[in-house]
Amino acid sequence: MTELVLQNIDKKYGKFTAVKNANLKLDDGSFVCFLGPSGCGKTTLLRMIAGLELPSAGRILVDGDDVTSLPAHKRETGVVFQSLALFPHLNVAENVAYGMRLRKVPKAEALARAQELLELVQLPHIAKRTITELSGGQRQRVAIARALALKPKLFLLDEPLSALDANLREDMQVELKQLQRRLGVTTVMVTHDQSEAMTAADVIVVMSAGRVEQIGHPLEVYQYPANKFVAGFVGSNNLIEGARIADATSVEAFGRRLKAEHAAGANAAGTEVTLSIRPEDVELSTESQGKENCIPGTVSFMRDLGAEVEAHVTVGGTRIIAKWMPKSNPTLKESDEVVLYFDPADIRVHLS
Ligand SMILES: Nc1ncnc2c1ncn2[C@@H]1O[C@H](COP(=O)(O)OP(=O)(O)OP(=O)(O)O)[C@@H](O)[C@H]1O
Ligand SMILES: [Mg+2]
Repeated sequence: MTELVLQNIDKKYGKFTAVKNANLKLDDGSFVCFLGPSGCGKTTLLRMIAGLELPSAGRILVDGDDVTSLPAHKRETGVVFQSLALFPHLNVAENVAYGMRLRKVPKAEALARAQELLELVQLPHIAKRTITELSGGQRQRVAIARALALKPKLFLLDEPLSALDANLREDMQVELKQLQRRLGVTTVMVTHDQSEAMTAADVIVVMSAGRVEQIGHPLEVYQYPANKFVAGFVGSNNLIEGARIADATSVEAFGRRLKAEHAAGANAAGTEVTLSIRPEDVELSTESQGKENCIPGTVSFMRDLGAEVEAHVTVGGTRIIAKWMPKSNPTLKESDEVVLYFDPADIRVHLS
């Protein structure tokens, strides 16, 4: 049973602030992903939780105990680094048993437990192989087994799947999630891949430039991005420049008034805003349906990806992307004149 709390965590390197005022409360057994672009502070925050880095300010609590200055080896964490850091001179079982041997677990017992762990990660037959004989996916699993060997309170992973090719990576995302659920171990994973975070996480922490931008359930973050950064980073999105108007249920964009259910806010008329609308929420037709929120545009590019079709539509100087399932819409081609429809419920409004 492990609950993790971060309180007002700062990390400075000289004058540079790598993490600014991070706060998080993670329930026992949950899976959190730190998601954000390169350099935003994800690894730094994870390393502070692991005890490999000391915060400049703030506290880290594990099950209510302040562990902020507790060294790494006393924290009961299992860590998988991006590099995996497996020992090439040891075989698979010895790698998995390594931590147990350091803790003086008798050899036979440690190797028996290593075998159990290898079964858990679906590699029961390779205990005696050397690390260099393994594929990328197998190495990944060995590193995971090794990190779990001492039944850690916290399971910490830094971009563990980034070296794998796309298909294997997707399989491993699902496998990792299922393993985590089965073990119920409180887990923190760093990634810059939003679909990986959506697959694995119960909670996503979106970060940018050292700051936490939003914390929430993956679908909540996807459907209700807290600001323009999150709207642009998590999933693909159309970002459209606009402005507030005196009416709290509408905004101005493309030189016209658009109804937007989420337009309300205390900002004065004229405030610049950015609208976001998901490509799958943009409706396209070839003739005007006389509804409000309909905007004419010209198709500039079509892309058929098999599972979905995408149209790029130019409206004024702005490119809007619409996506739909194949066959559910008439076939369009470049230069076609079309009408876009934005449902007022699908438009999000952010400060620019
Ligand atoms: N030891 C250090 N000394 C000085 N600056 C550091 C140190 N470690 C990290 N930084 C800086 O802190 C910022 C955050 O780094 P961090 O490694 O946490 O980013 P990240 O989000 O994990 O990025 P990536 O996705 O590229 O791994 C970066 O600008 C980095 O250069
Ligand atoms: Mg990193």
